[in-house]
Amino acid sequence: MLLSPFTPLKLANGQVIKNRLVKAAMEENLGDANLAPSSALINLYRQWVRGGVGVMITGNVMVDKLAMTGPAGIALEADSTLDAFREWSSVVDKSECKLIMQINHPGRQVFKRQGGKVFAPSAVALDMGKHSKMFAQPQAMTDADIEDVITRFAATSLQAQKAGFNGIQIHSAHGYLLSQFLSPKTNQRQDHWGGSIENRARLLLAIVQKIRASVTDDFIVAVKLNSADFQRGGFSLEDAEKVIAMLNDQQVDFVEISGGNYEAPAMQGRAADEYTLAREAYFLTFAQKLQRIAKMPLMVTGGISNYSTASKVLASKIDLIGMASALAVQPDLPLWWQSRTEFKPKLPKVTVKDKTLRALATMATIRRHLSRHGHNKITRPIHPMVSLVLDQMKLARLNKRYRRNFVD
Ligand SMILES: Cc1cc2nc3c(=O)[nH]c(=O)nc-3n(C[C@H](O)[C@H](O)[C@H](O)COP(=O)(O)O)c2cc1C
Repeated sequence: MLLSPFTPLKLANGQVIKNRLVKAAMEENLGDANLAPSSALINLYRQWVRGGVGVMITGNVMVDKLAMTGPAGIALEADSTLDAFREWSSVVDKSECKLIMQINHPGRQVFKRQGGKVFAPSAVALDMGKHSKMFAQPQAMTDADIEDVITRFAATSLQAQKAGFNGIQIHSAHGYLLSQFLSPKTNQRQDHWGGSIENRARLLLAIVQKIRASVTDDFIVAVKLNSADFQRGGFSLEDAEKVIAMLNDQQVDFVEISGGNYEAPAMQGRAADEYTLAREAYFLTFAQKLQRIAKMPLMVTGGISNYSTASKVLASKIDLIGMASALAVQPDLPLWWQSRTEFKPKLPKVTVKDKTLRALATMATIRRHLSRHGHNKITRPIHPMVSLVLDQMKLARLNKRYRRNFVD
């Protein structure tokens, strides 16, 4: 049968997803001073529900408010007040759309100016060339730190379920803590958390198991995984195949395939690898290889913004189509595609030479769209470097607020 992006999908746990179009995670930087969802953030999600997506995966929510990926992110801990989170989940109440909270720990990927607790499997700092000093030096984690992280992921998942979310997605991609454990480049431990891929994946598996023991069976538990880090000596496609095989034995409802990290931002389609240079659906070839092993549905994200590419993903036997930038620019894209499959959102073009600045300018440009949708404002195009400067000014203000409230 030829599937359409509007064909429903039934997950192994019985949950039905109304169509294959998934809003992939985008950190919105719209948290309030207490790191809880603001009204603008909640309003943004209302627009995606109205726009017709089948699933929304939230921007990453931190399991520890002292370890944030950004100063206006969201944190959900065991004792956090749930009121604002309940309001957030209520956006899907009268719809068939599913809301999945992405949960994350940054590990070493923390900006120095933001501060907080910065730890990693080993004390290996980010190498960003001349931009390296923007990042904090991490400390190697103790066994107690690792146990604390496992407990936190499970506690955040249980809180998400109590707050009315349909599931969680464990962020194990893009160079954050769990991805640092998976990569031999960042995980140089000699104990049972490092070395073989079985050891490097031990933390991810322990987290999946502890979450599963904490939530009900119909609660969706998903994982976001790199197909590869695209770095010499990093997490490879062969490693990813083994991790998928290990996840096959767990109750994981779907796995999203991405790639890259801050040092090699392949998730923006610009790794040195030949496969990722294809402009559209640049992880599709990898996802197809992983699909031969996976028993659970796979989702692929990266470079999908037109209907024919979305259809190609399904024709390649990948079950879910992840889109971030396209839905940031055009939250009602699924509605457009229901009546006009040739409709294409106008994605911003960021052509800055410096790799780090280009990644930051891309994020700033897309985040500007998110913020303006959240505040019901029209987004007029501005130069990506202007977006970057405005974003940096906003971040400087928010870093001060975060440091004052949580770090100093
Ligand atoms: C502003 C912005 C924020 C992002 N935040 C997250 C995040 O919180 N978690 C995550 O897994 N990926 C995050 N991503 C990566 C996207 O989920 C996605 O993998 C990437 O943008 C490629 O997909 P696209 O081509 O559809 O944009 C972010 C991307 C952007 C542009």
